Amino acid sequence: MPPEVSTHQSAEDLRNNDILIWVDGHLRPKAEATVSVYDSGFMLGDGIWEGLRLYDGRWAFLDDHLDRLFEAAKAIDLDIGLDRAGVIAALEDTRRANDMTTDAHARLMITRGVKVRPFQHPSLSQSGPTMVIIMEHSKPSIPRPINLATVPHQRGLPMTQDPKLNSHSKLNCILACIAAQKAGADEALMLDVHGFVNTTNACNFFIVRKGAVWTSTGDYCMNGITRQKVIDVCRADGIPVFERNYSLVDTYGADEAFLTGTFGAQTPVGTIDGRVIGSGQLGPVTTRIRGLYKALVAAA
Ligand SMILES: Cc1ncc(COP(=O)(O)O)c(C=O)c1O
Repeated sequence: MPPEVSTHQSAEDLRNNDILIWVDGHLRPKAEATVSVYDSGFMLGDGIWEGLRLYDGRWAFLDDHLDRLFEAAKAIDLDIGLDRAGVIAALEDTRRANDMTTDAHARLMITRGVKVRPFQHPSLSQSGPTMVIIMEHSKPSIPRPINLATVPHQRGLPMTQDPKLNSHSKLNCILACIAAQKAGADEALMLDVHGFVNTTNACNFFIVRKGAVWTSTGDYCMNGITRQKVIDVCRADGIPVFERNYSLVDTYGADEAFLTGTFGAQTPVGTIDGRVIGSGQLGPVTTRIRGLYKALVAAA
């Protein structure tokens, strides 16, 4: 197996040593951008987050990201203390402070805030939420198609920890990723509770069979914004696209497979469980979808 790569690998950029990070309304140098050890996010993973990308001066699909952020905040019963305009202003302050105009990635995190005692109960967070925006110069540079391994960790049912919640804690996904790495792969392919192929630990997953694009039904996986945009561009451009149940047999036999996410847009998959997918390289349908997605970002 070639050395591991990550689906969130970017070109080394020394400017990232000197970025300013937004912490509760203050822009702090990286070394001083800290939160309390009593913070609910650090202590318990009690918070939510969004990953956004800046292309040519604009945050791609900003409304969709804000919709998902506020929906998640409501789900965990957290008043984030800002309205949509306030969140946009914080993003823009951070962007301007770092003089970023394109090819930047923002991780916006909001936790239930500092606790008065080191225990789980949400009422112990009494001083309001903690909000942090890490914005880095970022050009995805994934050197080859990604290798996946199927893992025993599932995407669960919504009544445990709903996979649609962009929760601060990603432990289920991290355990899946570790299992994949132990199997010599880069990222984990996760099944749903019925054994159908669902998603990866950090991205959504698509296959291409005989010119048609398949992805999971959307149950059990993150309602990825890139996932939806890929479905939209396929529909608009006449590429047959199906949200359906499918198995590993369908997947190993696919002509192409790719991942989607805000960071990497569409990332080709080379192998799954040691089976080469199609040619093992970026395929023609994935290439076409990449072009359509790029045009959508530019037009948005
Ligand atoms: C588990 C998981 N799947 C998929 C995605 C991709 O979602 P998006 O396309 O909105 O970046 C993410 C990113 O937040 C994720 O955490």
